[in-house]
Amino acid sequence: MIAIEGLGFSYPDGTRAIDRMSLAIAEGCSLGIVGANGAGKSTLVNHLNGYFLPREGSVSIGGITVNRKNLDRIHKMVGLLFQNPDDQLFMARLYDDVAFGPENLGMHPADIATAVEDALRELNLWELRDKPPAHLSQGQKRFASFAAVLVMKPDVLVMDEPTADLDPKNRRKLINLVNGLGITKITVSHDLDFIWDTCRRVCIMNQGRMVADGPTRDILGNRELLEANSLELPLRLQG
Ligand SMILES: Nc1ncnc2c1ncn2[C@@H]1O[C@H](COP(=O)(O)OP(=O)(O)OP(=O)(O)O)[C@@H](O)[C@H]1O
Ligand SMILES: [Mg+2]
Repeated sequence: MIAIEGLGFSYPDGTRAIDRMSLAIAEGCSLGIVGANGAGKSTLVNHLNGYFLPREGSVSIGGITVNRKNLDRIHKMVGLLFQNPDDQLFMARLYDDVAFGPENLGMHPADIATAVEDALRELNLWELRDKPPAHLSQGQKRFASFAAVLVMKPDVLVMDEPTADLDPKNRRKLINLVNGLGITKITVSHDLDFIWDTCRRVCIMNQGRMVADGPTRDILGNRELLEANSLELPLRLQG
């Protein structure tokens, strides 16, 4: 479903954030990407929906190369939940932020109204629909971003720190919601217990490279491997 080949990326100041990375992700896979602060996780996932266009190496989704020409098709397929909700929400009203994507796709207005209401209700945000996103709490913003992505019914869901700011009940709700989606999912998180609960495969990134890749239990249960990459065992394994 996703093929990353020889991907490299340097920021204008010369920081090498991704270095010759290759990765294949099968359709329906739930992949967790973990790694220390600054490992390059966000830079990597920002390449998956064309927010960053690959300049070194390539990324393809469902056989379609991520490039400027294919951006509309890529946006239709890949929903990216940004690490910072403020990058996702820009309209004056929450409702309009969630309706923005479907409107851009040219969906029928009646279908848009149903889809937006469903997404907002699913995430307990219906009562807040007239609020400016800037006036939402952090956790509400996180769920609002999630609604804006889910309403597009993507084939691939990419989440960058989805549990940041969520209270325990909403975190649990997100686990159930994510596990109920049969699509291809990629999750970047420092919440290793969330990764444990939602991902079947885990990769560790370190300094722009993938340094480990395997079944969740093998990777997240390996204390030495985690510590060598500035990580710790998930809380549930810490005794
Ligand atoms: N706009 C930028 N300009 C220059 N360097 C940047 C920029 N954004 C990120 N970087 C650098 O690129 C590297 C990778 O950053 P990235 O945000 O991808 O890390 P991350 O793994 O997502 O970290 P975190 O866990 O803190 O979110 C870091 O060294 C960071 O300082
Ligand atoms: Mg990040």
